[in-house]
Amino acid sequence: MSALAAEKKAVNLGQGFPDFMMSEELIELVNKAMLDGYNQYVHMNGYLPLRETIADKVSRLYNAAINPDTEITITPGGTYAIYTALTSVLHPGDEVIVFEPGYDSYIPNIEINGAIAVRIPLQFPGYSIPWDKVRGAITEKTKMIMLNSPHNPTGAVLSENDIMELRRVVDGTGILILSDEVYEHLVYDNIPHRSMLRYEELRSRSFVCFSFGKVYHCTGWKLGYCIAPPEFMSEFRKVHQFNCFSSHSPSQVALAEYLRKEETYLSLAPMLQKKRDLFRQLMESTRFRPLNSSGSYFQCYDYSSISDEPDKDFAIRITRDHGVACIPVSAFYQDAIDNKVVRFCFAKKDETLERAVDRLKNV
Ligand SMILES: Cc1ncc(COP(=O)(O)O)c(C=O)c1O
Repeated sequence: MSALAAEKKAVNLGQGFPDFMMSEELIELVNKAMLDGYNQYVHMNGYLPLRETIADKVSRLYNAAINPDTEITITPGGTYAIYTALTSVLHPGDEVIVFEPGYDSYIPNIEINGAIAVRIPLQFPGYSIPWDKVRGAITEKTKMIMLNSPHNPTGAVLSENDIMELRRVVDGTGILILSDEVYEHLVYDNIPHRSMLRYEELRSRSFVCFSFGKVYHCTGWKLGYCIAPPEFMSEFRKVHQFNCFSSHSPSQVALAEYLRKEETYLSLAPMLQKKRDLFRQLMESTRFRPLNSSGSYFQCYDYSSISDEPDKDFAIRITRDHGVACIPVSAFYQDAIDNKVVRFCFAKKDETLERAVDRLKNV
């Protein structure tokens, strides 16, 4: 869709990245780190002051005592952290429960390890987890459950009931959890982010993956981290050592300082909630119908009252004929399940959102 958007000079609300500038202060800190000579490999596990800052942040936000030496590794992005976590524990024939729609790297990352993705569709239209189906899918081969809250592509977030159900499902089993929390600071409507790190009995079986790209509007930096208990983290590092080994040094030095300032990440939810609300309000003048989104960069819309075209055809048509790119949600299912829903990314300048909706009024 991005290639088509570029070709048609469409407003690109398809791909999930901000079109506004990141913090100049953070750029200056990276610049300074480079001039100060931080241009060689840092420690394989990541620059220690950054890991210490992360441990401090997690302690304040989620009341979790994380050891920066043994439980945190800095990685080149969240996707790499997810891949490495899966590779460090999966064996051929293991089953991994994964929900659809879902971020596109999960299933290939499971399958490249010879493991089996057990796909469970989220319940349309709220995209909630069908816990009865999860219970029915557990077998003696179930190695892991993968979670993503806030959720790409739908903006759904975990509820307290989800946490209770998850506890029940894994209690007394050896099932691990991979929790993709790259949008941890993008939760709206005063809902708390229910990180696996908050719940001791869940944390003790979890790999939790994060992305600085999503937090600081610099997706191109590809820098993130994984938090896991020491016995899992030592396996994670065995894969990491011979794959990437060491992530970009000057950005880690800069982030060690910048991340200490709480307002740099706590200001994110109000800022993006405003954008979500602006986008939704503007979209009221169109024939698209919003689905619920309480987090992430994304807002999905039902277009069934406009057209009965398959979502892929519809997305291509509005990009081509109306000059606004979006993503058909069927692209996030292996079987291309089509509920006539498209995803828009609202992490854009206000004028970008206004320009896009002006065009969508004609659809
Ligand atoms: C749910 C989810 N996880 C992970 C990532 C990737 O994070 P990174 O760019 O740090 O690899 C994305 C990016 O779109 C995402 O939406």
